[in-house]
Amino acid sequence: MSAALAVSGLAKRYGAVEALRGVDLQVEAGELVGLLGPNGAGKSTLVKIACGLVRPTTGRAEVCGARAGSREARAALGYLAEFFRFPGWTSADELLELHQQLAGSGGGEQERRELLDLVGLSDARSRRVEEMSKGMQQRLGIAQALVGAPRLLLLDEPTSALDPVGRRTVRTLLEELRRRGVSVLLNSHLLSEIELVCDRVVILLAGQVVTAGTPAELASPRGVEIDTDRGTEVHADAGRDDVPQFVEQLVRDGRKVYGVRVRTSTLEEVYVEAVGGETE
Ligand SMILES: Nc1ncnc2c1ncn2[C@@H]1O[C@H](COP(=O)(O)OP(=O)(O)O)[C@@H](O)[C@H]1O
Ligand SMILES: [Mg+2]
Repeated sequence: MSAALAVSGLAKRYGAVEALRGVDLQVEAGELVGLLGPNGAGKSTLVKIACGLVRPTTGRAEVCGARAGSREARAALGYLAEFFRFPGWTSADELLELHQQLAGSGGGEQERRELLDLVGLSDARSRRVEEMSKGMQQRLGIAQALVGAPRLLLLDEPTSALDPVGRRTVRTLLEELRRRGVSVLLNSHLLSEIELVCDRVVILLAGQVVTAGTPAELASPRGVEIDTDRGTEVHADAGRDDVPQFVEQLVRDGRKVYGVRVRTSTLEEVYVEAVGGETE
């Protein structure tokens, strides 16, 4: 089976700006991939190319084996844009109905009910968009992206306006989608979110992939730190098993040991290291 999303050698130039500079990335069937990176890294451009909204300068992008932008590719994906805006006067149910028509979905009322249930908006089906909080609108946006049961879901910063409870709802929802075999590419700057839910993380910086791997692979051992009477000693290549020997040697040398830390990197550290401290 072809990957849900396959991107190779992808480059995009907007005039003088090189938004993407040769990106390779795959999202396998049923895989949840987090795309991280500071503002301007090219995350939204990549997602827009996958949707067929932006044309790559060079390189290829395929959705479920079909060229990005083709009818087959568009039929296989659902998309929630970073800065979406729905008409204020539509109710949640009407909005989903409109998108069913746009997507050619024959799911009817049952699909709408299931989707509202999935995003925790069952009680808001008749509520108008303008009467909803930003968080509710964002969850409605995710329901909208799921109309027609797409195989690939592209979510551009879907949790930025959510409170902790709303985020938890989205996380549970993403886990449910994975159980159903839906592939997801999730742009986010919320590292903990990505760490909790994603199978794989790709970090983009200035249009290039700088780091990729599972959260466990990225959270590699980071050495041992020992606080002594002469300051902190760092043994960058050491691990837990080396600690007794280090301490023994220090004590034998007449030094004082105040503390020992065995370090592993968090996704945040991996991220900050990868982007060289650039702010979001
Ligand atoms: N339509 C456009 N025209 C010109 N430059 C653009 C356009 N869209 C994005 N850019 C530029 O491309 C770079 C990548 O932007 P974007 O893909 O939105 O990054 P991100 O989503 O990671 O913040 C930025 O420098 C941005 O200013
Ligand atoms: Mg963006």
